[in-house]
Amino acid sequence: MTNPQPPSSHQLAADVAAAEDSAIAAVARAGSAAELDRIQSEVIGKRSALARLNTALGALDPEGRRSAGASINAARSRVGGQIEQRRSMLAVTERRARIEAERLDLTETIALASTTGGGVPLPGGPVTRGRLNLVTQTRDELEDTFVALGFAVAEGPEAETDWYNFEALNMPPAHPARGMWDTLYLKLGKPETVLLRTHTSPVQVRLMERQKPPIYAVMPGRCYRRDTPDARHLPVFHQIEGLVVDRDITFADLAGTIEAFTTSFFGPGIHSRLRPSYFPFTEPSGEFEVTCPICAGVGCRTCSGSGWIELGGCGMVDPNVFAAVGIDPDVHSGFAFGFGIDRLAQVRAGLSDMRTLLDNDIRFITQF
Ligand code: PHE
Repeated sequence: MTNPQPPSSHQLAADVAAAEDSAIAAVARAGSAAELDRIQSEVIGKRSALARLNTALGALDPEGRRSAGASINAARSRVGGQIEQRRSMLAVTERRARIEAERLDLTETIALASTTGGGVPLPGGPVTRGRLNLVTQTRDELEDTFVALGFAVAEGPEAETDWYNFEALNMPPAHPARGMWDTLYLKLGKPETVLLRTHTSPVQVRLMERQKPPIYAVMPGRCYRRDTPDARHLPVFHQIEGLVVDRDITFADLAGTIEAFTTSFFGPGIHSRLRPSYFPFTEPSGEFEVTCPICAGVGCRTCSGSGWIELGGCGMVDPNVFAAVGIDPDVHSGFAFGFGIDRLAQVRAGLSDMRTLLDNDIRFITQF
């Protein structure tokens, strides 16, 4: 193999200029940051035309080598400059394209219903409508059911004092029954005096303070407990409380009201029953169960084969609670009951995990 003629510095200068021109043209053609990366290694990488010209320098005399080397370096750095410029330009256009693609058109309208003056349909397909969460729907249905039975609807604050949540409900400070509710206290005032209500029962107390009997009311609302969320517990949940105070109210009125509610809410064929239980603010106290609405009492997984679902607590208002709000227990008597709205929604919809109520998964939400 014959050695090729050593390149003249003239020839080399022309080659450098040609390599630079084609490198700059390639950079200008790059359509994306990824493509530019590839072109960068092609035009100034180790195997680029410019790098190969460097190897030809050895054949030149020292003076020629110095000046040719300098012009290769200068060409390289000009190409490098073009690459950086192109890169920032591409970043701007790519960002603009992304914003455009993610843009929400808040002026979208229902094409079928709306046309502009000239009868031209406005852009956009049918708009999907939002809906109420299953818990809100259940709460609304419960309110309607009780209103139809003659109850008023009352509300109270979610941040409560110890007095309303515990003390007025016959639980003095340090009473062991307070342990029935895992309480979240707020850093307000003296320690453990302000809390997030653990049940809706404090609304009973507020209502009895401001309204003299007769009282027929339900009190729905959000409650809080220091619970770890699992399939059957949410630390933020909802209860509905019922309170009746009048003359000659007996336990039979309580049982009859719960039964009337059960059949009117769930439909005929679903009944209720009571079991003895304990709550500090009612005496006697009970727990009430309803026929399992999933299997209609036959026995299934939801009711562990028993045919019954435990719904909530109830009982006759304790005379100490009446004393705390200034109602004379010799003249008036009353009953109260309370249960979880989320739990009821879970049972009725046959949900294995209560947390799906809060997941905001559109595939779940749109089923109800
Ligand atoms: N407040 C009670 C609870 O959260 C339920 C209840 C309400 C019991 C009214 C009796 C009367 O467990």
